[in-house]
Amino acid sequence: MSEKSSDRSSVAETEAEIRYYGQKLNELRSRALEDPEGFWAEVAENLTWFKRWDKILEWNPPFARWFVGGVLNASYNALDVNLKRGLKNKVAIFWEGEEGITRTITYYQLWREVNKFANVLKKLGVKKGDRVSIYLPMIPELPIAMLACARIGALHSVVFSGFSASALADRINDAEAKVLITADGLYRRGKVIPLKKSADEALGMSKSVEKVVVVKRIGLEDTPMKEGRDYWWDDLMKEAEPYCPPEPVEATDPLFILYTSGTTGKPKGVVHSTGGYLVWVWATLKWAFNPTPDDIWWCTADIGWITGHSYIVYGPLLHGLTQIMYDGAPDYPAPDRWWELVEKYGVTIFYTAPTAIRMHMKFGEKWAKKHDLSSLRILGTVGEPINPEAWRWYHEVIGGGRCPIIDTWWQTETGGFMISPAAIDLVPLKAGSATFPLPGVHAEVVDEDGNPVKPFERGYLVLLAPWPGMLMTLWRDPERYRDVYWSKFQPNESLEFKIKPPAIYYTGDYAMKDEEGYFWLMGRADDVIKVAGHRIGTAELESAFVSHPAVAEAAVIGKPDPIKGESIVAFLILKSGYEPSDELRDELRMHIRKTIGPVATPEAIFFVSSLPKTRSGKIMRRLLKAVVSGSKLGDVTTLEDASSIEEAKRAVEMLRKAMGEKS
Ligand code: PRX
Repeated sequence: MSEKSSDRSSVAETEAEIRYYGQKLNELRSRALEDPEGFWAEVAENLTWFKRWDKILEWNPPFARWFVGGVLNASYNALDVNLKRGLKNKVAIFWEGEEGITRTITYYQLWREVNKFANVLKKLGVKKGDRVSIYLPMIPELPIAMLACARIGALHSVVFSGFSASALADRINDAEAKVLITADGLYRRGKVIPLKKSADEALGMSKSVEKVVVVKRIGLEDTPMKEGRDYWWDDLMKEAEPYCPPEPVEATDPLFILYTSGTTGKPKGVVHSTGGYLVWVWATLKWAFNPTPDDIWWCTADIGWITGHSYIVYGPLLHGLTQIMYDGAPDYPAPDRWWELVEKYGVTIFYTAPTAIRMHMKFGEKWAKKHDLSSLRILGTVGEPINPEAWRWYHEVIGGGRCPIIDTWWQTETGGFMISPAAIDLVPLKAGSATFPLPGVHAEVVDEDGNPVKPFERGYLVLLAPWPGMLMTLWRDPERYRDVYWSKFQPNESLEFKIKPPAIYYTGDYAMKDEEGYFWLMGRADDVIKVAGHRIGTAELESAFVSHPAVAEAAVIGKPDPIKGESIVAFLILKSGYEPSDELRDELRMHIRKTIGPVATPEAIFFVSSLPKTRSGKIMRRLLKAVVSGSKLGDVTTLEDASSIEEAKRAVEMLRKAMGEKS
């Protein structure tokens, strides 16, 4: 196949020293396939149920209901159960803020705070099934607020604190949240960002929120507080009752909504169930990282994304682990901040994103070498494909050549890891491959017609069977759920799969398998860009651009970036009366930061007078990508106006020359 893939497969030999063989995982896989009822019942026994389920799975494709009839509570499983098994005084969270302050929270203390805040929410009128939006930095109040929602059966909808006011407003409005929890501000690289101001702006655009709780993270003097609507967290907590009985929740009741980008402008509200999701998170964490009671876990993700939901909040707490939570930039005040924390707390399992690894690679190994990282025993990555160079650097420089790298492929929608090495039973690793599907996951790589492709051929990654962690639906939009995930490939008798699925889940990813069946993830196949691991829809960016008065039409693509994986490049047609200029470019950049958030800041903006389109009027992003990367243009016969691609190319060249690397 391509040069890239043969380079990747040759890596297999060089990493062959990490060999731990065993049959355990294969046995689990066969059982999950042959006796799903028995298999999942056994796994689910690891949680505490108030009432056992009547039925493991009700599968009316594409809607799955797991552990039907089962009753449990997520916060009870994450907290009370640990107190009962003797972990009362174990540290749940070692927290450190960017400015150097620390907090140590035991399971008992966390349980207490969650109980009190659950009572606060009740007092504010939050009931079972209500939605609570949470817009907080990485402070302990974030997991406390989430678990308090779970305790009373309310759904949390966490919005990443790097999102803008209008992105927050969209999410509040879609979920019709009753309460918003936010903070006065946050620190980023030493600067104070006044978060409450953004929250207020968002509240100006939404009607559903009745009460706002504000955490004093910074102590900003001029934080605006609206009488009768806004309350300080500490004031409410002072008066809260200490115990709140956990609400019995059906396994098939939703636990939370988490918005993610898709291929249209409107973010999708991914809804996760309580029972299936918790079972999946428990099991996948166990299989992939096999944590022991002495481990010090550190997942560097922000809780605003699914990784933080599953592997900072629910997973590690279900397992009674001690973890690090850090609220700050990885390179502040110096590029060794992370390594300093690993040394200080003796982190044993470290889970991060390829983009962060590449950033640290760029800083150079001297920063890691300043610290004793010998406590580390397992490393993990998530969010985007990891290139073999970064894999090797991570393995050697951070892991000292002794830690396996658990490259976990999954999505917001899958709830937890899907394709990943499993520390309970490691296979030989290959740098850049997520290895094999976990038990209960049936993944295939197929061509446009849905048939499995040959080894080393690139195809679409699909999932053939329901799994407990799968999303239930999209919030109040079951049709879109069906459309987005279950309509690209229709099952039919002629498809050559080992099992006959009644429905096929389309992941939106490209992948291939090598001759040994290892999976290699190869990026998004749809119009979604992964910037530093963050998922951003091109349509979302385009609609943000055209909301600016100067922009008539916009086309956005992802350009390969050595650190961030991909960066955002926009082609814009201006309305008449507007002229291209550096000032306008800066203004548009700011406009995007304001409409979506700093994660979506475009790397380059090019002004053009037309865009390459198909005859049916669809923008051919593939061609724009080719122009930007300087590769061959490929088939242009469907272009509406072949001259437009030439023009786009000319415009890019002109701009490149005129602006050097500045754009
Ligand atoms: O393209 C895949 C990529 O991230 C997408 C899911 O993004 P999101 O829902 O934001 O969740 C990120 C954290 C789970 C996938 O469709 N992706 C995630 N993990 C990997 C990956 N690509 C390659 N290798 C991975 N390990």
